[in-house]
Amino acid sequence: MDRFRTIIEPFRIKSVEPVRMTTVAERDEKLRAAGYNLFNLHAADVLIDLLTDSGTGAMSAEQWAGIQRGDESYAGSPSWFRFLDAVTELWPFAHVIPTHQGRAAEKILFSVIAGPGKVIPSNTHFDTTRANVEFTGAEAIDCVIPEGREPATIHPFKGNMDTGALDALIRERGREHVPVVFVTITNNSGGGQPVSLANLRAVREVCDRYGLPLFLDACRFAENAWFIKQREEGYADRSVPDIVREMAGLADGMTMSGKKDALANIGGWLAMNDDAWAEQCRNLLILTEGFPTYGGLAGRDLEAMAAGLREVVQDDYLRYRIRSTAYLGEALIEAGVPCVQPIGGHAVYLDAAALLPHVPALAYPGQALAAALYREGGIRGCEIGSVMFGQHPDGTETPAQMELVRLAIPRRVYTQSHIDYVIEVIRWVASQAREMRGMRIVEQPSALRHFTARFEPIE
Ligand code: F0G
Repeated sequence: MDRFRTIIEPFRIKSVEPVRMTTVAERDEKLRAAGYNLFNLHAADVLIDLLTDSGTGAMSAEQWAGIQRGDESYAGSPSWFRFLDAVTELWPFAHVIPTHQGRAAEKILFSVIAGPGKVIPSNTHFDTTRANVEFTGAEAIDCVIPEGREPATIHPFKGNMDTGALDALIRERGREHVPVVFVTITNNSGGGQPVSLANLRAVREVCDRYGLPLFLDACRFAENAWFIKQREEGYADRSVPDIVREMAGLADGMTMSGKKDALANIGGWLAMNDDAWAEQCRNLLILTEGFPTYGGLAGRDLEAMAAGLREVVQDDYLRYRIRSTAYLGEALIEAGVPCVQPIGGHAVYLDAAALLPHVPALAYPGQALAAALYREGGIRGCEIGSVMFGQHPDGTETPAQMELVRLAIPRRVYTQSHIDYVIEVIRWVASQAREMRGMRIVEQPSALRHFTARFEPIE
């Protein structure tokens, strides 16, 4: 096998979903009608949808078989026990609390442990995590290593926590105000960058010094484990499930979106060792999600995650997964298109500020680039820049730290020729960069504007 270099998709296709071809003129019209906001498009008008890798994956025959097997008993369903076994085989926490997706787990946990005056440090909070922390009146603070904030800096574990900054923060605010330390694996907001086991151990030491629990936002844990196997000394011969269990052993709990590395279209969970916290979380779960053996999910959804968890840690899958994301990124870098480097696990992040230096941040270079990718090639990505982060509650606006367009790769959905097409479109758009103009906002809500704001091109 080693004689051949091509890493093929480790599956064949049994069921297909047609994608509808559209013309530039048609897409131009759709774009105008959508107010140049790609969230407003009908997905049927998108050719290659790279808006998110969340819940957009293709399920396996085993997972569909599980869907059929799903037992919908209200309490104590066999599907629940199969799910529990699959989770605890990798994450042997004492309590597993199923939720309908990741943010529901966050909402429940932070309702119990956060609140006014509290501080929750993380390498980088994902936006729903930050929002759920802040909703309780607590503060969410990012302590990623400095390299993690620089798009062009190469570092094997760019998602690592700056443990010095973490230690200083805990000392400054007082340990009694820090209910938990979070680490996001991989670090989505920082470019899908992994965290090393050495770093997790160092974070654990800081937590032990102050008697604090460590939780993982583990959405993309399998991708993180694969990077550890590839890049961290001493792990090349360890199995991915072993690496995951080692991560689990360093933590006291986790929040999880099953829409990522459980290879499901919906689902999530909250897990922890602390009995008192778990009891309070379960009480809230019953208010908003459901009984503790289904938590906002159908039995069939629990089955899909159980099967997905067994598939996601397989070497063939992860080798293909990480390679196919890198394939896109490397082709773009080779063509001189600026990207966040190294390429992350689930997405390629285009650096719109570097590609469009003539477009000021508050003329939204990321939004302009995302609109152009749709217009020229029917590709839908997502602006992660001043549209998403520039607006403040007091009505003021400042540029974001970076102006990125994220191209997130759904799991097991697109083939290499789809990605070759994406590369061709981006190269063409990049060759026209000097001609591109910025955008102005013509209508926006008072918060979370990236979902609904309307734009027009600046002439
Ligand atoms: N944490 C991280 C790191 C995430 O990336 C997400 C979702 C969540 C938590 C929330 O999980 O969607 O199941 O409620 N990320 C998606 C994305 C939406 O597009 O990156 P959820």
